[in-house]
Amino acid sequence: MNEVLQAIRDRRSIRAYTEELVTDEQLNTLIETVKQAPSTRNLQPCHFTFVKDQVLLREFSSDMNALYQKNPNASEYLKSPEYDVLYRAPLVCFIFSEISASFTPIDGGIAVQTLALAAHSMGLGSVILGMPKELFASEYAEKWFKKLNAPEGGDFIIAISIGTPAAGKDAHPVREGLISII
Ligand SMILES: Cc1cc2nc3c(=O)[nH]c(=O)nc-3n(C[C@H](O)[C@H](O)[C@H](O)COP(=O)(O)O)c2cc1C
Repeated sequence: MNEVLQAIRDRRSIRAYTEELVTDEQLNTLIETVKQAPSTRNLQPCHFTFVKDQVLLREFSSDMNALYQKNPNASEYLKSPEYDVLYRAPLVCFIFSEISASFTPIDGGIAVQTLALAAHSMGLGSVILGMPKELFASEYAEKWFKKLNAPEGGDFIIAISIGTPAAGKDAHPVREGLISII
């Protein structure tokens, strides 16, 4: 099997990381790779904010905890101060819309999987994160759009935590009926 197919098959959502930081060289490789992601009419409608500032990342997670604590419907584990929505990753990329077009969220999705595969190919682990969306629809939204350098009027699409894996994970079970061949 070629290396691309192998990487697609072997990538897993990694939710535990060592304390090792992502190097500048690794960060630059991720940045150069995501620039190559395809997008609708090559609009490149997303903005990518890579955060390696650990204090800022922990503050983000703590605000998410606070949000869950105020929500009576949130599961207990989300309210625990032990729970970190970013999984204490040393690097997180937040993807925002900058140009509004029909397929902008899909372009963001393609970009995030491009990052996940690139990270995996570099020996890093990652997990795609939709849950931060709740913070960008809350009273904390303005603060975090600003702190994360989101484009004016842009919305949060998706994020991804990246770091050195501290744990593995089994392949996900595949839902029956997923595929038709006609
Ligand atoms: C759009 C999207 C949003 C996701 N959001 C989260 C999230 O907020 N937190 C999380 O732990 N995993 C999240 N995941 C990871 C999925 O749970 C994971 O991809 C799925 O269980 C399959 O496991 P695998 O990635 O190891 O194959 C998300 C994945 C996608 C594609």
